[in-house]
Amino acid sequence: MSSGGRHFEFRAGTAGGWRITANAQVSGAGLPPAPFLSVHEIPFAAPPVQAAWSMRGVRSHDRYVNRPEKERLAAIQPELGRAQATRAALIPIRKSDAWWAMAQDERRAIIEEKSRHITIGLQHLPAVARRLYHCRDLGQEFDFITWFEFAPMHADQFETLVANLRATQEWTFVDREVDIRLTLAGVSQS
Ligand code: HEM
Repeated sequence: MSSGGRHFEFRAGTAGGWRITANAQVSGAGLPPAPFLSVHEIPFAAPPVQAAWSMRGVRSHDRYVNRPEKERLAAIQPELGRAQATRAALIPIRKSDAWWAMAQDERRAIIEEKSRHITIGLQHLPAVARRLYHCRDLGQEFDFITWFEFAPMHADQFETLVANLRATQEWTFVDREVDIRLTLAGVSQS
């Protein structure tokens, strides 16, 4: 996966660099089963390709982080593609109309002051590498695609992170969520 571009497509099907090990419907409709996932940097408005399912997102600017949070993140967040990070999670998320009806300052207050999303997340760096893709304005089924990479030794820690976030007020606004887990193809699951 290249790290320089903005538009990305996640394709599930019979081939790909990641083997899908779990595909769980968390809220709303799930996604069909498929054995592999590939991640592609694509040109803007690339034509659709054949896949069991696919989703597109764009790397964008931060909406909510303040200056100290931005600097803290920049200081400790690792890059994707670390050799030891052979596990991944792809968690596409859609938020409700009530979420999008709020003002930016109200959404920020729920994300951080009430839910501590950024504070909780920072506790799991640098074990987990993350990337957020926005897709609400691309006419996709989801509003966000979230992607995480970690070593097998941090798999339990990742479960704690996800459980803590799902227990927050922010997550009461999540109306669709699918949790897909992956292992780097060619790597044993242990
Ligand atoms: C690895 C630790 C994590 C850190 C450090 C972290 C940090 C952040 C930060 C800083 C933002 C705000 C970006 C902005 O300013 O626009 C954000 C947004 C988001 N994160 Fe996390 N996060 C983590 C884990 C997770 C996990 C595990 C999930 C999913 C289960 C998740 C889902 C999201 C979503 C959907 C957004 C977009 C929220 C919105 O714009 O409404 N994050 N995260």
